Amino acid sequence: MTRPVLRTKLCDMLGIEYPVLLAGMGPVAGGMGGVATAELAAAVSNAGGLGVLGGAGWGAERLRDEIRKVRSLTNKPFGVDLLLPSNYMGGAAAGELPADPRELIPAAMKDGLRKIAHDVGIEYLEMPREQVAALPRPPRGGMSDAQMEVVIEEKVPVFASGLGNPAPWVERLHANGTVVLSLVGNVKNARRVADGGADVVVAQGHEAGGHTGRIGTLALVPQVIDAVSPKPVIAAGGIGDGRGLAAVLAMGAVGAWVGTAFLVAKEANQPLLQQQRIIQATEEDTRVTKLYSGKTMRNITNPLIEAWDASGLAALPMGLQTLAIQDIMYSARQAGRDDLLMNAAGQVSGMLREVRPAAEILHGIVAEASEIVGRRLPGEVTAVPGA
Ligand SMILES: Cc1cc2nc3c(=O)[nH]c(=O)nc-3n(C[C@H](O)[C@H](O)[C@H](O)COP(=O)(O)O)c2cc1C
Repeated sequence: MTRPVLRTKLCDMLGIEYPVLLAGMGPVAGGMGGVATAELAAAVSNAGGLGVLGGAGWGAERLRDEIRKVRSLTNKPFGVDLLLPSNYMGGAAAGELPADPRELIPAAMKDGLRKIAHDVGIEYLEMPREQVAALPRPPRGGMSDAQMEVVIEEKVPVFASGLGNPAPWVERLHANGTVVLSLVGNVKNARRVADGGADVVVAQGHEAGGHTGRIGTLALVPQVIDAVSPKPVIAAGGIGDGRGLAAVLAMGAVGAWVGTAFLVAKEANQPLLQQQRIIQATEEDTRVTKLYSGKTMRNITNPLIEAWDASGLAALPMGLQTLAIQDIMYSARQAGRDDLLMNAAGQVSGMLREVRPAAEILHGIVAEASEIVGRRLPGEVTAVPGA
């Protein structure tokens, strides 16, 4: 069988065969790893899409190692995604963290989490100090400055900012020939990042796994296209097969940024338990919560998320919230309750049925979309444009 052809102007812009990007997924269930490591990113790039490393949880050296590893696994273009949050740890207060950063967590939050642990039936244990000390220790302003220096030094082909505005770095990125993408969840931020110099805006709808906004993909994508035209727009959130890709191309998007569908790739750095929970999930089994990061994040739901939501506790800012839950995450792991760990995933979880190689997932999406766009419309619509 011949390979399907599906091209948009994004393919020329990024030097790729198909207009499908692996979302740069960082946080992995319960840890500071990354789902989209070099293996997954290279697999997607080698298959004709654009693999994007999820570097959000990595220190500068790990990020550099992963970039070099992708380069050893593929000679195709690839990208790096980082989070550039403007409100990290409650503000830009400079300075290092205390020896045990849990001292920064208010007592009321610690007490609340203790009660939640009791409610979900796990013993509340404190993570040993040496393990806390071994956690990546970002300066209080966040760790993006050091990460961005690596992205610039390594001259990566594509950079994507998952949160925040890449504007302060755009000039240096462009000087290297790096194409700059920026994720947004509403029109206001789309205008902000486009004005800040992003080359392509990624409009990510509410259906998405991970951090997500309030507007659904179907409503968001055309409004972002209108707001930033003539800059190209990639659609994200809820694209799990070729029907989703064909739909966003019909809306005028130049490609799709796909996360959840690749969580069940063989090459994904995702624990098997979490992959199985995604495969078993229905479309109703995800929930948006601030529990794990302090920002709204869509996860496969679990009793801890439900107890947190019922508690009425207000999440701390990004960074601090992750610190606040270290002990309860540790307690869950000690109790063998990995089902309580973070498992970010989107509403398309309900349509995923098996673990497959990333190339097969990508080619399945592309083959179906090219069939729809090139040969038929799924509802057997009759359409003849008027003169
Ligand atoms: C496990 C997981 C981790 C994610 N981590 C990041 C991240 O570190 N940076 C980022 O920009 N987006 C992240 N996202 C969001 C994705 O980039 C993407 O926008 C989203 O997955 C698209 O929607 P979909 O899941 O319906 O395909 C993550 C998503 C998931 C599911």
